[in-house]
Formats: sequence, structure tokens, C-alpha cells
Amino acid sequence: MRRVIKISAPGKLMLFGEHSVMFGKPCIVTAVDQRMTLVAIPTEERKLKIEAPDIGIIGHQRELDSLRVVANGPKGVRFVETAVKVFNEKFGLPFGVDVETKSAFETSGLGSSSASTVCTVKALAELTGNRLSKRELFDISYKTVLEVQGTGSGFDLAAAIWGGTLYYLYGGEKIEPIKIDKLPLVITHSGIKAETPAMVSSVKQKHKENRKVMDGIFKLMEEITDSAKQGLERKDYKEVGELANINQGLLEALGVGCAELSRLIFAARNSGAYGAKLSGAGGGDCMYAIVANRNKGRVKDAIKDKGGRVIEVRANAEGVRVEK
Ligand code: MEV
Repeated sequence: MRRVIKISAPGKLMLFGEHSVMFGKPCIVTAVDQRMTLVAIPTEERKLKIEAPDIGIIGHQRELDSLRVVANGPKGVRFVETAVKVFNEKFGLPFGVDVETKSAFETSGLGSSSASTVCTVKALAELTGNRLSKRELFDISYKTVLEVQGTGSGFDLAAAIWGGTLYYLYGGEKIEPIKIDKLPLVITHSGIKAETPAMVSSVKQKHKENRKVMDGIFKLMEEITDSAKQGLERKDYKEVGELANINQGLLEALGVGCAELSRLIFAARNSGAYGAKLSGAGGGDCMYAIVANRNKGRVKDAIKDKGGRVIEVRANAEGVRVEK
């Protein structure tokens, strides 16, 4: 009988420390319960075949031993393909593989690329009987992401692997779970897709041009992230909201805000949120607000009024797992 393995991994939401994490400062990320599911079946033919119907990929196939990183093409395929290449180079795959992905991700910005990378590596490890630790899974996934996009702190991979809420340093230098159970969040998509590599390089350029000021901002972001960690542990959401507002001000100073995100952030603050900020690279994608349960309805209405799309998703989700 052919072996079939099914893996799922969660998405992510950056809570604090985006951009400054690229400069050695900590960030806080939470895993969210929109999951990527991947089914992998080993085959005799030395080919990688990918089906990803939700993003229109049908019948995509490549020779397993001549996989290479391609600069364009659908993102979903590039991460899966490169993960298979990296795994094959490291362990030597004894078979070809048919892969099918199914995404529960409603929007961009919630980490579908990192989740599909982690699912692929985990599936191959299971099929080849390699008992990879979380750290090894992270290292192979991180190598994949760097090969595909050349940059990234790896925080999204850590969220997909460890799950929960993490205090994280660039390249996985520190991956520390933060103990919290629920987070009172309202998450919204701005309707604009963020261009992460472009935003990251614009901040790098700013840092080159004005090192002293930028280092000062990153230092403040570090203090905010450290205080937010304590606030989250104490469940002091008023304090965490206040810190989110300050972090947002500093992100604006880095030049990664945009009018659409600001409209949603102010709508949330003005309708009773403790605080709100963008999440991720900026220039689009998501924002979140910290909101007491009693005010959630009001905040959601205000956000929808400004054209935001509220995403019903829970934080602190479980990391990658084998599905039955
Ligand atoms: C993007 O979601 C977050 C950044 O900090 C980049 C990264 O950490 O990889 C801007």
C-alpha cells in the first residue's frame, strides 16, 4: 500500500518587533489557527508533482534531481519546490513525491509560505523516517526560505514549528515560548498585499543613511518588545495596547506605515481598543488591535466601516503536526 502522510502547520501574526528583529532585536510572534495542510505521497518516478488548487496550481511537475531555485513563478510552488531540493541535497530522497497543499489562509500576510515550507520538510522527514528535532526542522526550513527570498529573520517558521506565542531572535538564536492562553485580538487585513522584501530593503537603506537615529529606534523597539512580553505574561492588556501604539509610532518613523493601515488603526483606537498596530512588513497586509471582549463588536464595526476585512482567527495555535 502506498504511504500517505498529511501534515498541517499554522500561520503567524507578528505582535511586536517587526523590522527591528532584522537588526538583532527581539520580536514576539503568535501562531494563528488558519492552517496549511499538505498531503505527500512517495512515488517510484523521480519527480516532484505539486497540486495546489486554491492558488490555481494543477499538474505542476519537475524532475526531482534537477530542482533549482527559480526567481519567479507562484510563491506556493517555489517554497515547496525549494524545500524538497534542500531536503534531497541533505538527506538524498530515495523516491519521487506527489504533493498536494490546501490552504485555510483567507488572506496574504498570515504566513502561508512559511507554513507550506515547514509542512514540506516535516512530510519528507516523516516519509524517510528521519526523526528531526524542532531545531533541525527549523534549520532546513530556514535554509529553504533564504534560498527562495534571500532574506528573513525566520520568525514565521518558528511560529509554524513551535506554535504558541514566542519571544524570538533573528535566525532562531533564541526561541522562547511565552506563557499565555488567550489573546484578546481583532485582526484585520487592509486589502493591500505587502511587498515584504521591498519593505525590508527600504528599512535597510534608511539604516545605512542614518545609522545612529535608526539604531536608537531599534533600541526603543527592543524595550517595547521586552515590556510587551511582561505585559502579556501578566495579562495586562491595557499596557500591551499602549505599547502597541508606541511601536506603531516607531514603525511610522521607519516609513513602513500606509494610509490604509492607519485608517484601520485609528478606527480601532477610536472605538475602544486598548491599542493597535500594523503586523509584519507594513505597507499593507494586516493590522491588529488589542480589545477587551466587551468592546470587540464595536471595534469590528468601526474597522469594517473603514473598509477593513476582519479575520476571525485565534492566536496561540498549535505548531506543525501530523494529521490522521
Ligand atoms: C515581516 O513579516 C517581518 C520583518 O521583520 C521581516 C522578517 O522578520 O523576516 C519585516
